[in-house]
Amino acid sequence: MVRHTSIQSTIALLMAVASITVNAQNTTSTSTTTSTSSSSIPAQVSPEWLKDVVPIAGNVKEYPSGTNASIPTGPLPTVNFTASGYPEGWKSPPTTSAEVQAVINALDWSKVPGSPVRKADSKGDLTMTGYDSSDPDCWWSATGCVTSKNASIPPDVAACPTVGDWGLTYDDGPLTSDAGTWAEPNLYDFLAKQNQKAGLFYIGSNVIAAPAAAQRALADGHTLCVHTWSHPAMTSQSNEAVVAELYWTMKAIKEVTGVTTKCWRPPYGDVDDRVRAIAWQMGLTTVLWDEDTDDWNMPGDGGGNLSPETVDGYFENWIAARKNGTDNQTGHIVLQHELNNATVSMAEKWLPQVQQAFNVVPWNQCFNISQPYWETSFVYPIADGSRPAATAVSSSSAAASSTSNPVKPSTSVISSNGVSAAGIAAAASAASCNTITSGSITAALGMVAVAAAYIL
Ligand SMILES: *[C@@H]1O[C@H](CO)[C@@H](O)[C@H](O)[C@H]1NC(C)=O
Ligand SMILES: *[C@@H]1O[C@H](CO)[C@@H](O)[C@H](O)[C@H]1NC(C)=O
Ligand SMILES: *[C@@H]1O[C@H](CO)[C@@H](O)[C@H](O)[C@H]1NC(C)=O
Ligand SMILES: *[C@@H]1O[C@H](CO)[C@@H](O)[C@H](O)[C@H]1NC(C)=O
Ligand SMILES: *[C@@H]1O[C@H](CO)[C@@H](O)[C@H](O)[C@H]1NC(C)=O
Ligand SMILES: *[C@@H]1O[C@H](CO)[C@@H](O)[C@H](O)[C@H]1NC(C)=O
Ligand SMILES: *[C@@H]1O[C@H](CO)[C@@H](O)[C@H](O)[C@H]1NC(C)=O
Ligand SMILES: *[C@@H]1O[C@H](CO)[C@@H](O)[C@H](O)[C@H]1NC(C)=O
Ligand SMILES: [Zn+2]
Repeated sequence: MVRHTSIQSTIALLMAVASITVNAQNTTSTSTTTSTSSSSIPAQVSPEWLKDVVPIAGNVKEYPSGTNASIPTGPLPTVNFTASGYPEGWKSPPTTSAEVQAVINALDWSKVPGSPVRKADSKGDLTMTGYDSSDPDCWWSATGCVTSKNASIPPDVAACPTVGDWGLTYDDGPLTSDAGTWAEPNLYDFLAKQNQKAGLFYIGSNVIAAPAAAQRALADGHTLCVHTWSHPAMTSQSNEAVVAELYWTMKAIKEVTGVTTKCWRPPYGDVDDRVRAIAWQMGLTTVLWDEDTDDWNMPGDGGGNLSPETVDGYFENWIAARKNGTDNQTGHIVLQHELNNATVSMAEKWLPQVQQAFNVVPWNQCFNISQPYWETSFVYPIADGSRPAATAVSSSSAAASSTSNPVKPSTSVISSNGVSAAGIAAAASAASCNTITSGSITAALGMVAVAAAYIL
């Protein structure tokens, strides 16, 4: 079921306006607190609060090896999944449930800056009036900021670093339809035919409605990340609502596909230091983009009124600039959508030409992020196309996590068993993580990888 993006946003923002409360920071510390200094990015920890989620049958246990001929294509199978226990789709999930409260209580709120909860006007647009032009909160919607001035906030991923790389991403899936129409397996079959992997940013409400498509995506080798439960502008959400939006989507992805993802993309790119810090503590790196197709705004189900010729023009210029050598400063991450027939048709029309001009890879590959999930059994290709050995881990719980079936993240060093703080601090120290002050994207991502290695 496709929803109208702008109506969704209007509804979500109106709801947020109706109930805006600026939350005092909850400074209660928990067992996950580390002893790293206040001016360093906190080491990430695996989300222990998902450890008891048992994946349904049918999901793969590792990245597909072999040729694209061996990956699943064609009609989606029937998947035995019951969505009871999840909140209503496409609505702000309640923050009072025991599950959400458990996550709220597991986070260290002293590490979440008190950036104000934003307001939206009656048309659903975020209100920026009065926002300090020095951009104290690194609010992307206001300034395009992706690297916080605050050394304890991790930078976002926004562009592939290597010139000529095109980080391929599709948002708002998964979506299914009757055979023969645009929705899945259409795009995933097309990608398989092109031998192309992509980064997919999933809406939790869609995952529970289209579990077979989500399982297919993982089996086909795409990289799955969170795109929230109900697609609100996240800076307009209270701390608790941010947790709920991320939690239910992480849970849906894990229960349906078996993986605990480590990445998310904010709807509309709307993120600031407060939201970044909450996501990071939930184990998620923020992934944005540096080139936007605006494809969602073309006429179509849930779309707008942007002429397809305008979107064609963006692709034409990006390709021309790469071919004539003026696109020579950085690689890119490009925002596209699974949203509707128009966006999928546009994606399929341009991909072959983009592949002629760029090295098209899922966003994680251009950063050498081979393990985008907490489950160490999934190892993706790095920039040179090779797949490294699964990260060696020393703890016994880690070994269990890569061999158990279904895969579960280990209880890890974050648990209340007392090993935690020291273990995390050691990991951070070994990676020089606690000396990151520049906000360098690659440094932070290096830290992500190392933190995962030590903690799982
Ligand atoms: C579906 O899953 C439920 C719960 O795991 C199980 O009881 C039921 O037998 C399954 N149905 C089918 C058709 O596999
Ligand atoms: C802070 O979190 C604790 C649990 O860790 C909870 O008991 C308390 O009510 C919270 N306080 C606020 C102001 O949210
Ligand atoms: C930086 O973020 C931390 C939370 O991680 C917060 O406690 C601190 O106040 C922030 N510093 C500034 C200058 O905003
Ligand atoms: C695998 O990719 C090649 C192009 O590299 C394509 O010709 C072939 O159809 C693809 N196979 C499948 C099963 O999609
Ligand atoms: C290269 O292509 C871009 C995009 O079409 C264009 O704006 C630019 O003028 C071209 N530059 C040269 C030197 O051809
Ligand atoms: C890089 O691109 C700029 C314009 O964006 C152009 O002036 C410069 O000549 C290019 N450098 C090379 C080595 O092509
Ligand atoms: C999808 O879009 C294409 C191109 O715009 C159009 O030819 C086709 O009829 C559409 N299909 C459906 C099912 O709407
Ligand atoms: C990825 O790893 C390769 C070595 O395999 C290295 O040359 C390259 O610089 C790395 N890229 C990034 C973005 O770290
Ligand atoms: Zn979206």
